[in-house]
Amino acid sequence: MSKRVLTTESGAPVADNQNSASAGVGGPLLIQDQQLLEKLARFNRERIPERVVHARGSGAYGHFEVTDDVTDYTFADFLGTVGKRTEVFVRFSTVADSLGGADAVRDPRGFAVKFYTEEGNYDLVGNNTPVFFIKDPIKFPDFIHSQKRDPFTGKQEPDNVWDFWAHSPEATHQVTWLMGDRGIPASYRHMDGFGSHTYQWTNAKGEAFFVKYHFKTDQGIRCLTGEQAAQIAGKDPNSHQTDLLQAIERGVHPSWTLYVQLMPAAEAANYRFNPFDLTKVWPHADYPLKRVGKLVLNRNPDNVFAEVEQAAFSPNNFVPGIGPSPDKMLQGRLFAYADAHRYRLGVNHTLLPVNSPKAVPGGAQNYGRDGFMALNPQGRHAKNYEPNSYDGPAETGRPLSAPLPVSGYTGNHEAPQHTKDDDFIQAGALYRLMSEDAKSRLVANIAGGLSQVSRNDVIEKNLAHFHAADPEYGKRVEEAVRALRED
Ligand code: HEM
Repeated sequence: MSKRVLTTESGAPVADNQNSASAGVGGPLLIQDQQLLEKLARFNRERIPERVVHARGSGAYGHFEVTDDVTDYTFADFLGTVGKRTEVFVRFSTVADSLGGADAVRDPRGFAVKFYTEEGNYDLVGNNTPVFFIKDPIKFPDFIHSQKRDPFTGKQEPDNVWDFWAHSPEATHQVTWLMGDRGIPASYRHMDGFGSHTYQWTNAKGEAFFVKYHFKTDQGIRCLTGEQAAQIAGKDPNSHQTDLLQAIERGVHPSWTLYVQLMPAAEAANYRFNPFDLTKVWPHADYPLKRVGKLVLNRNPDNVFAEVEQAAFSPNNFVPGIGPSPDKMLQGRLFAYADAHRYRLGVNHTLLPVNSPKAVPGGAQNYGRDGFMALNPQGRHAKNYEPNSYDGPAETGRPLSAPLPVSGYTGNHEAPQHTKDDDFIQAGALYRLMSEDAKSRLVANIAGGLSQVSRNDVIEKNLAHFHAADPEYGKRVEEAVRALRED
């Protein structure tokens, strides 16, 4: 078989890909060497801005299959029939470190699912934790700055990490989660995923339900201790990527069972916790898990950059039957992601195969046009304005989800407090649920970090949070920190 010809970007054959063109054998190089110039210039442009958070990640394709009838709660078409399958792309990630970091670290994990439904892409952009550190999006940039590399030292600083938490008592629940046994998953396959926020489902009768998503791993939970993680991170910084890639290549397809918690919308106002507070869970005794379906990953991307680095998930990508709740954090995220994609990937990022609504008959149909890297999927006769007299795409008039009531005055309000709301109650409950061994590891992990903080006032403020969660928890952390600082 004859070899295929190497070409330039414009398709012309390349004569020599090993020796640059020069003026004479030993002379300087010629600016007319198109292959050299194009190759170097192209290489300089290989990187795009990394994600501002969740920079390191791994992705895979698969499907979601409905196993249980949920049509009493949502009219979402892809959830409408038992046995229905929808293609998915999932990206897992770590949060805080930049692209050069390691996978086996103490950090939440991202768990972002793109469902390619026939009514548009539905993005459920969650984490492996059911709660989060803060409850108002206005704090997010400060939070992330405190956890990522310090602008002067260029590395994560315990002073910054714990100073932010000292000023954020609402983080105590998630800090307890993160410092506990589940804080370092052994792999992406061995962890659960959560939508974390409260979302809204609407059924065909127009009734609204609030919903929380739980993906339970069918592989079982496996975690690493700090020591195990440090060893693995040193040996293979890409340990999660290696595990996921190799499992799928071997034909071992990881899966998760999706459950939801459902709250009739009318119960939200009087629930003992603010149901839209992302630092709290809904106890299962109040709202039990209901099974919905199975998520299976069975195909690796062919190109990590094209399909994983350029994947763009947006919590505002809903489909009919599913919508947002008044969760303030979620509301902030409804803006942040598509904005990040327009910066990171450009305004036409939805034309990339991994992001395009591939299951929608005819693809996306609208009047958005042009911008960098535009194609013309609408064809030559499509009008670029609406309304028009040319049978262009038109609105349905059908709301995507039920309207929710609002009241009160505009203003910079704190989240409403329900009867049992405080920042510590669920952190204390989580601590008391742990076995004695797990408590000891939790206390040691917290003390290991907190004892490195240079200022006593920052340490004291953090200790006060653990005391408030549970007096025994506070006492044990305090003793462990003191012991390490006296060393
Ligand atoms: C107001 C709070 C938040 C803001 C402003 C925010 C913002 C962002 C931004 C800008 C990105 C990078 C997007 C990109 O460049 O592709 C990102 C990624 C991500 N965030 Fe958030 N985030 C917030 C809270 C959360 C929460 C609470 C969760 C989980 C429940 C979460 C899960 C993720 C995940 C999984 C990714 C990576 C998505 C991917 O794999 O591409 N974020 N976030």
